[in-house]
Amino acid sequence: MEYRKGNGLPFFNHIMCGIIGYTGAEAAAPKLLTGLRTLEYRGYDSAGIALSDEPILTVKAKGRIDLLETKVKEQGSLPQTCGIGHTRWATHGAPSDVNSHPHRTAHLCLVHNGIIENYAELGEELKHDGYSFASETDTEIAACLIDRFYRESGEPVSAIAAACKRLRGSYAFGILFEDRKNVLYAVRKDSPLIAVHTGQEGVIASDIPAVLAYSHTYYRLEEGVIAELSRETIRFWSPDGREVTQQSETVDWNVEQAQKGGFPYFMIKEIHEEPTVLRKTVEARLSAEGLPFFGVKRIDEIARGDFDSIQIVGCGSAMHIGLVGRTLIEDLARIPVSVEIASEFRYRDPIVGKRDIVILISQSGETADTVAALRHAKEKGAFTLAIVNVIGSTVAREADGVIYTWAGPEIAVATTKAYSVQGAILYLLAIKLAIANHRISEKEAKTLCFSLLREIPDAVQRILNGKEKIAETARLIQNAEHVFFIGRKADWDICVEGSLKLKEISYIHSEAYATGELKHGTISLVTDGTPVIALMTQEDVCEKTVSGIREVKARGAFVVSVCRESLAKKYEIPCDACLTVPDTEELFSPLVAITALQLLAYYVSEGKGIDVDKPRNLAKSVTVE
Ligand code: F6R
Repeated sequence: MEYRKGNGLPFFNHIMCGIIGYTGAEAAAPKLLTGLRTLEYRGYDSAGIALSDEPILTVKAKGRIDLLETKVKEQGSLPQTCGIGHTRWATHGAPSDVNSHPHRTAHLCLVHNGIIENYAELGEELKHDGYSFASETDTEIAACLIDRFYRESGEPVSAIAAACKRLRGSYAFGILFEDRKNVLYAVRKDSPLIAVHTGQEGVIASDIPAVLAYSHTYYRLEEGVIAELSRETIRFWSPDGREVTQQSETVDWNVEQAQKGGFPYFMIKEIHEEPTVLRKTVEARLSAEGLPFFGVKRIDEIARGDFDSIQIVGCGSAMHIGLVGRTLIEDLARIPVSVEIASEFRYRDPIVGKRDIVILISQSGETADTVAALRHAKEKGAFTLAIVNVIGSTVAREADGVIYTWAGPEIAVATTKAYSVQGAILYLLAIKLAIANHRISEKEAKTLCFSLLREIPDAVQRILNGKEKIAETARLIQNAEHVFFIGRKADWDICVEGSLKLKEISYIHSEAYATGELKHGTISLVTDGTPVIALMTQEDVCEKTVSGIREVKARGAFVVSVCRESLAKKYEIPCDACLTVPDTEELFSPLVAITALQLLAYYVSEGKGIDVDKPRNLAKSVTVE
């Protein structure tokens, strides 16, 4: 297919993909397939591998990695010991074999994660140089550009460096050159890529779980640095051709942690990890006196009230936990907080400046909109504080202060444990601000922190112990077309997340409403048998939610209440099914109740036979706008 420019025909971008590369003594194909399976959460529209040989051998398939594996098997024996692989998530246009990676040119083969923004102009230039294009991807343009420089210099590192100077956009590349057998090249800008070397084999990958089987020590490539991996060594080159060193990092996750550990899906495994990771996250943030301690200097100044506003920014679930954070900080510390959708933040031209704090929340730390919001806030002079799970990620590196959550690797596309630990950090922050604002005494704060450390993980564990009841309830609603979640105050905050969880993995249309909002329109959608999930963990608004339940019951709704145990005993709740949540300090109840909603969504999805970990059209981390 010819390269087409500026005529409205799309170039198919791949915005969140998985890259793997291997060089060593063993056959590369099985290694690459295993790596791709680990990275499949990053995209699964199509996949492909290339093996270092003369000529380079490529195998690609539209669809899941199983299909690629079948095609690879059809090739018969594949003894090659070096190769690259890719799993792709497309945003525009249909995925196809031809658009799958790796992309070939006369001299090289390349896999890419990111977007080349100036593909059109480069494509035009390359066309004049005699290049034509087989696919509709911006990646092929990048491959041809490197090829052109390689034709001139015959030297991989300088060709890659020269091409990178011309590329605009984001990229992580894994590259094989046909006449450099068994050598792997890698470079990145604004897209993640790590490399490991054990002395006998070298691996590149988009994410840590894919390298854990080789080593726990890895290099997160600095932007623009080119890595060259052979069986024996790994070397790094700066963009101007100087050999440089890279700082290695070590991760204490084990392979088991990054695998399913006997559960059918990562999502259910990750929900089961919540008690442990909540304890770990809180424990790591308590001082010897049992008070919140973050080790970020500016937080003490913030806590003293040396600022005008707090804005919490994130996408999807990360933004939703911001809603919980707002309720908490306002309730406990009486400090005004606003919550912003990261993708809107910079376009809204928010009122933010030197005396403001912008808290960025992100599991991956790579979400493009969150990164852009962070940069915007910094540009405006705000103090940026990141709550992030992935160590060394872009948000973590660029923020003025970072508080890491301790969720460990989260693989399922739908976030669960990362959301919960983000909540725990926000609780600790709220407690810290409340002490500084003289809203609570240190003694009261210690009691709250103790509850967060002990009571909450135990209560979450009790929810997990009672998961069968939630699974039964899920079966009652799994055939619904629409589901509504209702609640007030912090209950509404988690309704929003519960509703997102349900719709994204079960494909049931679902909405969350503040109970009082229902009668302003939405109630007209409630008909006979419509499931309504009513959250009741906050006693002062419990009666009001009971009235809301009566209203929807009168229209035929099938009501499932998710209610704190003591409230379920105290109030007569006119529901069809009741899921109880253990009693804890009321303030923390949402953090407990969310586990019940996550499980409910999980069992509905599983009951419908959906691939829970990989819901259609979604990817784990959205690394472009
Ligand atoms: C939903 C979900 C997403 C993410 C969002 C932000 O289950 O996982 O809504 O929360 O894409 O991702 P991070 O936290 O990586 O910035």
